Amino acid sequence: MLSARLSAARAYLEFLKGNPLNTDPPMALEKPAERSLHQNLLLTLVRHQRLLETYLAQFSGRRPEKVDAPARALAMLGLTQLRFLERIPHHAAVFETVALAKPLGCGRAQGFINAVLRQAQRSLVQTPTGENHWPDETLLPLAVATSHPDWLVERWQKQYGEAATQAICQANNQPPTLTLRVDTRKTTPHALISELAQTGMVAQPHPFWQEAVQLEHGGNLFQSPVFVQGHCYAQDVPSQIVMAWVAPHLPGRLLDACAAPGGKLTHLAALRPQAPPMLAMEFVAGRMLRLKDNLSRLGTEALVLMGDALKPPLAQESLDGVVLDVPCSATGTIRKHPVKKWQRGLEDVLANVPLQQAMLQAAAGLLRVGGLLLYITCSLEQEENQAQVATFLANNPSFSRVDWHSLPAPAALLVPAADYISAEGDFVALPNAGQMGLYAALLQKT
Ligand SMILES: C[S@@+](CC[C@H](N)C(=O)[O-])C[C@H]1O[C@@H](n2cnc3c(N)ncnc32)[C@H](O)[C@@H]1O
Repeated sequence: MLSARLSAARAYLEFLKGNPLNTDPPMALEKPAERSLHQNLLLTLVRHQRLLETYLAQFSGRRPEKVDAPARALAMLGLTQLRFLERIPHHAAVFETVALAKPLGCGRAQGFINAVLRQAQRSLVQTPTGENHWPDETLLPLAVATSHPDWLVERWQKQYGEAATQAICQANNQPPTLTLRVDTRKTTPHALISELAQTGMVAQPHPFWQEAVQLEHGGNLFQSPVFVQGHCYAQDVPSQIVMAWVAPHLPGRLLDACAAPGGKLTHLAALRPQAPPMLAMEFVAGRMLRLKDNLSRLGTEALVLMGDALKPPLAQESLDGVVLDVPCSATGTIRKHPVKKWQRGLEDVLANVPLQQAMLQAAAGLLRVGGLLLYITCSLEQEENQAQVATFLANNPSFSRVDWHSLPAPAALLVPAADYISAEGDFVALPNAGQMGLYAALLQKT
């Protein structure tokens, strides 16, 4: 019978072979607890892959890439349970994992996997009170201890400094909580928490932002009445804060040029009840369907158009504002998508830079004098953020940056506004315990 461990080992083996990581549990895994264990095992393994490989090398005396892929996948899966899944007793982790060698097609490696996991158990340090601990990982280099590639950590150290980089790396390793934007036209955060509790979900007010709640477990959120009736939208807090901060300054005819799945657009529409419906443009057909679903679930009126933000099918100088939430490296969302750490090299991170600049240029032409361009990424990389805006401003002297300090902060913000404003006057959220990363710049055609 298929178990969560076997399905996770198979998925990780595919990933080791160079295929995309598929974290969705297979249909054959029926019990909710098994489905959730599958996902937890896989995401924890990928999140801590580099540290676990260090242990694999230490306990086997072999470099991970020299170990056959199926044996490597199982040894890593076993180490994941021993090191990170505290609720799984160690003897069960070892026994159940070793037993998967045959079904995974590496029966002859059973002894090897067993030896690695037993060695890991033996190397645990026992405290005077009898608890077992792993050796002090803070002595390891930051990139190893927090499982990030060196090149990414070095970039962040240069850009943000040592302390902020440590905080980013540690935040990236927290299992993500699901944050919900409360549609305050329909309910309140307090009422939403009670409604979620009726279907067995535990939510809490968000510590930074009064209009959001944090869910401990996704559970059945997407089938729950509050979700289906559009009382909430799953959205990280910085995206919510940006929209609430700029909405009072974005009247008139607005285009969201990269709109799907519609998180920012539906929020902005709710914040501008008197304004004309927004134009919602998207390029990818599948994502357009998600956009339309969300518009109808939340009851948002918008003029939807399939189109390319590089060649928008709209008249020049016809709009009061453009929201440009561009495709990017998404290095601010590693907490939610840990696999991004391992797929991307520097070239991948910078791959979207020319596209983003061309989109900025195309959006600029659509604005009337006085119009506003809101540029957003979920990247932490300056080439996609500050440098991108600097290039745009250098090429377009008729535009100037609106300093975020000059905009009154939204009343629902529970932390100092200055925490979100960079030296250049842009909006910058770095990943921490309550949020992922986001960058936004507001540019005005003068
Ligand atoms: C970061 S996502 C936007 C998220 C969205 N604003 C929200 O808040 O839900 C970027 C979107 O841009 C779309 N996209 C990519 N290339 C595009 C293009 N040339 N024109 C328009 N949209 C594009 C992607 O399909 C994706 O849906």
